[in-house]
Parts: sequence; C-alpha cells; structure tokens
Amino acid sequence: MKKLFFSAMFFISFLMNGFSQTNGNSFVIGDKTFLLNGKPFVIKAAEVHYPRIPKEYWEHRIKMCKALGMNTLCLYVFWNIHEPQEGKYDFTGNNDVAEFCRLAQKNGMYVIVRPGPYVCAEWEMGGLPWWLLKKKDIKLREQDPYFIERTKLFINEVGKQLADLQITKGGNIIMVQVENEYGSFGIDKPYIQTIRDIVKGAGFSDVPLFQCDWNSNFQNNALDDLLWTINFGTGANIEEQFKKLKELRPNTPLMCSEFWSGWFDHWGAKHETRSATALVSGLQEMLDQNISFSLYMTHGGTSFGHWSGANFPNFSPTCTSYDYDAPINESGKVTPKYFEVRKLLERYLPEGESLSDIPDSIPTISIPAFDLTETALLFDNLTKPKISEEIKSMEFFDQGWGSILYRTKLVKSDKQQTLVITEAHDWTQVFIDGKKIATLSRLRGENTVKLPPLKEGAILDILVEAMGRMNFGKGIYDWKGITEKVELKSDNETKVLKNWQVYTIPADYSFAKNMNYGNAKNTNKQPAFYKGTFTINKKGDTFLNMSNWSKGLVWINGYAIGRYWEIGPQQTLYVPGCWLKEGENEVIIFDLASPTIAKTEGLRQPILNVLTGNGAYSCRKAGENLDLKNENPFYSGTFKEGKGWQQINFNKQTKTRYFCLEAINSLGGDNYATIAELEILGEDGKPLSCQHWKCIYADSEELDAANNTATNVFDLQESTIWHTNYSTTKAAFPHQIIIDLEEEKVVSGFSYLPRAEQDNTGMIKDYKIYLKQTPFKLKN
Ligand code: GLA
Ligand code: CA
Repeated sequence: MKKLFFSAMFFISFLMNGFSQTNGNSFVIGDKTFLLNGKPFVIKAAEVHYPRIPKEYWEHRIKMCKALGMNTLCLYVFWNIHEPQEGKYDFTGNNDVAEFCRLAQKNGMYVIVRPGPYVCAEWEMGGLPWWLLKKKDIKLREQDPYFIERTKLFINEVGKQLADLQITKGGNIIMVQVENEYGSFGIDKPYIQTIRDIVKGAGFSDVPLFQCDWNSNFQNNALDDLLWTINFGTGANIEEQFKKLKELRPNTPLMCSEFWSGWFDHWGAKHETRSATALVSGLQEMLDQNISFSLYMTHGGTSFGHWSGANFPNFSPTCTSYDYDAPINESGKVTPKYFEVRKLLERYLPEGESLSDIPDSIPTISIPAFDLTETALLFDNLTKPKISEEIKSMEFFDQGWGSILYRTKLVKSDKQQTLVITEAHDWTQVFIDGKKIATLSRLRGENTVKLPPLKEGAILDILVEAMGRMNFGKGIYDWKGITEKVELKSDNETKVLKNWQVYTIPADYSFAKNMNYGNAKNTNKQPAFYKGTFTINKKGDTFLNMSNWSKGLVWINGYAIGRYWEIGPQQTLYVPGCWLKEGENEVIIFDLASPTIAKTEGLRQPILNVLTGNGAYSCRKAGENLDLKNENPFYSGTFKEGKGWQQINFNKQTKTRYFCLEAINSLGGDNYATIAELEILGEDGKPLSCQHWKCIYADSEELDAANNTATNVFDLQESTIWHTNYSTTKAAFPHQIIIDLEEEKVVSGFSYLPRAEQDNTGMIKDYKIYLKQTPFKLKN
C-alpha cells in the first residue's frame, strides 16, 4: 500500500512539474515511462566525452551516434579540466561543453548531463582537481566545508554554461545526474542531498535529476525525490539487475544509465573486449521492455595528455587509449560492433523515422619513419631547485602532474645499506652520482633498493614519475611523488633522509619545448627529451608507433598526445589529423628510460593489444603448485544458485594472514571457477579494507582470451571477474586462490559475489576455506 501511494505521488509530482512548464517543451517522469512533451519516450543515449575528442571532430562523432540510431548523448562534465587552478574557470575551446550540447541539438540529439563533482570515468582523480589535495586533511566526496564550497562554486559555473540549455528553455538537456555511483564509495545521504541541492541551485530545476548506481548498492544513498537508475555491463542478467528496483518502485521508468559496451585497458594487462552479440542481445532485451539506456561508451576516444586515471585498490593506471571496444572506435571509425548495434536500433526507431547516413570517416595517413635528432638530457636541464628539509609530495611544491626529482647527499659507507622509499607514486628511478641503480614500480609494490658502497658526498637522485591519480573508491586521495618517507637502513641503524633539493618537472609543453636541445647522444641511457620533425602534404589521423620507446609523454605541434609505456598493451598513440599541419610538424618525446632507437613513424592502424616482457601479470609464478595435503580446512560450504552477494559467517572467529578459497566443483558441472568479488569479514562482521591485499596464488587464470586475472576478485568492480583458463590449458578442479591480507587480522566470515552475466559457466558449488598465519606451501 505504502509503495503504491509513493509511486502515485512520484508520478503526480512529476506530471505537475511537466504541466507547469511554460515554453511547451518538457521532459518528465511518467508512469513506467519517460514523457517527452507528454509522449512516452525511450532514451537511447550514446555516452561520449567531449575532452576525449578534439573539438574539430565533435560534430562528426555526434553524427556517428545519430546514424547509429541513438536519440540522446550522455556526458560527464570534468571539473579538473574546467578549473585547472583554484578559481580560474575555463569553458573555452575543447572545454566548451555548451557548444557541444548546441551541436548535439543542431543534429537532433538530446543531452543528459552528469556534472559530478566526481565522475570516475577512468579520468585523473575521477574528475576532481588535484589542488584539492593541497589541503592535507581534506575529505573528498564528503561534507567537508571546503570541498562543498569548491563544489558549489564549480557547479554554479556549470549552471551558467548549461542551465539555459534545458529543454524547457528551448535547449536539449533532458536529465541531470547527481554525483556518480556513490554506493561504491560510501553511505552518506546528507552528502547526496547537499549535492542535489547544489545541482538544483545551479539552475538545473526543470528536468528530472537522477542517481546512478549498481543494483547491489543503489538503496544505500537513494533519495526519495530522485530517479534511480542502474549501471551494468554487456552480458549482465537484465531481469536480475532491475529486480530490486522494480519491487521498490513498481511505477518508475527503468533505465540502465551505463550499459558497458566494452571495458578500459590497464597498463600491463590484457586488452579488454566484450562480445558484440552479447551487447546486442542485452540492448534488445531492454528495448523490448521499453527500458531506457545509455551505452557507455558509444565512442570512448582518448585520454589525451596526462588525463588518464588509475584504478584502486591495486594501483593500476589506465592506458591513454579509451577505445573501450566501443561501437565507434578511438579514432571515430565504424567497427563491426557499430553495424550490429545499428541493425538492431533501426528496428526500434519511432514510426516514420529512418536512420541518418553514416558520415564519411576522417582520412587516415601513414608517416614514414623519422628520427628525433635533437636531445636534451633531463639532468643537464635542471633549473633552480626548491629546498625542503622533509620529503613532501608534489602537490606541496605546487605541481599537479609530471615527474619530480628529489636529490640529497649521502655520507661515505662501505656497509651494505638499503634504501626504503615509503609510498613513491608511481614509477621511480634511483640514481647514485648520475648512474641508475634501480627502477621501482608501484604496480608491483616495489619500494626497496640495495645500495652500492658510497663515497663521501655521493649524490642520490630519486626521480618519480606520476601517472594518473586514482579515480575509484578511496583511491582518490592519491598524492604524487614521495608521500611519506625515504629511509636508509643498515644492520643496526635506520636513518630518515632529509635536506632535499627538489626539482619539479611538469607535464607541460611549455616546459618541454624550452629545454636546451643539442645533438649529444644519450649514451648513459638517462631520462631525456627528444625533438624531431616530419613533413606531410595531406592531413589525416595517424597512430604514432611508440614501440622503440620506454615510457613517457608525447607532444605534437604543442598538443599533449598522451602517455605511452613499453609494457603495453597499447603500443601506438592516436594522433588526430586536425592537430597536424600540411608541411612540417614538430614532435617532442619525454622518455624516462631512453629508447632503443630515437625513431618513430605514423601507422594507419592502432596497436592496442601487444604486451611485452612476460605478457600479462599472473598471480602464479611459473611452475608453482599449491600443496594443501597437510592443511585442514577451516570451513567448508556450498554456494547457492543464483546471482547477487552471498554472505558466509564462520561459526567461530580466528586470526589469519592468508586466506585460501578452494573451489571443488561447479553448479553447472563445467570445469571452471569464476568469482566477481570477495570480501573478507573482520571481527565486527564488516568487510576488511582490501587496499593492501595481494593475490599470491591462483592455480589458473584466463589471461589470453580475456583479462580474467585473479586480482579481479578484489578490484571492487562487480563486473570484472577471475576466470580460470578456458582458452589454452583449461585446468580442471580443484581451483584455488590465495589472498595475502598483508597483516594478521581476526576474520569472522566472507562475502562472495558470483559473476553477474547470464553466462553461468564457472559458478562455484562446493568450496573449502583454509586460513593460515604463515604462508602456504607453494612447491616448484
Ligand atoms: C562506472 C563509472 C564510470 C566508469 C565505468 C567504467 O560505471 O560510473 O565513470 O568508470 O564505471 O568504465
Ligand atoms: Ca571484480
């Protein structure tokens, strides 16, 4: 009864809202449907991000979305590109989001705006500006007075740009989102209310406001007066995804606010793809029920410059390409997926409408190999240092992005000493008297270096490159450079190093171009800037081949093209033709560890799927085998059929450091094991923080056909899974995974989330849990 009453009220209030509007155009929430100017409307939205597309190509991409059969564009507003310095707003050029909306309208498309303040999106710090971190005790995405003050100022600026473009005022904006997937961050309704009021106060008061979340957590922060929508990916069981929402609000229109067409790539991990067939069948299932959707991404584009983010809790930086295996690829070209989706959407066009023509694609060119003939060694080009007794992160030297060099003098020593750097973010090279002695990667949790014997006054240089700030969960507190301390340890002594000369190396073209370039060869393999030119007589898109280069950043004609890293899987960088010139073009590359040869070329096709070295990182070292013969299970159980979280409470608590789940068989009788997420419950029955967990063993992982690494069970993403190998070795049961909690904890149980897909392969049935304070035996 209460439920019915609520839905009726909800319906009536939105209807009234609709009727009160003056210019005749309206978008409101009706009974189980949206109403556009009073008529039922299914949103078919294409998610695209204006900063990920050169402005010159905006209209091309909008037309591509239209020709795909979409009627709406869905976009985030990225706070950190609009307010690069506190109080200095920029909505011009590639940041002119209002112009993007007008172009959409010109092409007959509606717009959904998602102004944040947090947007996630695999974007540096989830869209938050780095300078917020200058306030050491700031609370992000909470009711911190400073955070709220800055959020309000920013969203008011967005309002000035976009509020007049709401449909009631003659524009094309039909909905506005409040915050973003807050359920995967915390529980704080008062904070969400504050953001809602800020969004309304900025002028977004004429169209429905909505919240997007996962079906597992959308109730946590759901406000009564907002529309609730659900995010999930290709392959998901759609019935299941909307079940709870339908129960709570039987009369609400349904919308999948992010239907993931593919997924993003991480450096060092297998290139991600998702099946076109599964995507199309999901869309069809929704369309058959008049469920609205936004296809995230329809065109992913590129995280140019230093804008790509990183995931949490295992620091895993995202690649520059945001191709996303989307229907429209990174450079705006059609893909087989595009045609599949288009064929489907054509069948669901309103009567009398037909698909618009697919616009011609932007021409592609190749650029013959050319040398970067001029070099500027970083160490020869250092400017005046800042002096700091204590080590501090780069934000406290007023630096947002790039690299930072910490230099100090060491005293003579013949003893064996180790250098321990606590929290170097993110990729570190250590030099003694200009000679490189170590590289430490945050991806691998490396932080220790054995030092050679030292002469008096030896110069220690620690060069730290910052990659993107984490954009997920509590990872958004991601100070860069060295954030804690540097210690020198010998047998009987630990000394904290002090008195630093600090050199900031910003990721700016103005900095890179002003180096002192010469023809000196980089014989010592030092970090250096390289400059060269190439000449073309016709402009076109190209893919710069970076496979000769180690790790760094590229600028072409002053445009920041992006990060590259030899480990892959991305080996080329997308260079939009509109940023090239007929005639001579300038290329500058900042390479941190020196190229094999200072040469590159422009290819016609991208290379996004080549991992170098040992390929994708595996949780099992070659030849390792887990021996559980002499171990006794602490607990044994059987998982239930079906999707959604299952919580298992042990009948007693115990202390443990290592958690091993052994899967014995599967519900479907197949030979595979899959897990989407695992939470381990502490003394109080609540999940322990997984921030410092490591997966130290998984008997089998699918790392070739897909990125199904075992660390996916604690990446806090419900749509990513551990899947035992199905493409080559096809190992059979039992399957085991071991998690190192990094310190001893009292545990009382665990929660398990099976894979969300309709595909029921690898659904574990019987299992055993082993808990130990000392490492498990892994024999070779
Ligand atoms: C979530 C977020 C998006 C994006 C996707 C993954 O749905 O809301 O911003 O991060 O995950 O691509
Ligand atoms: Ca996961």
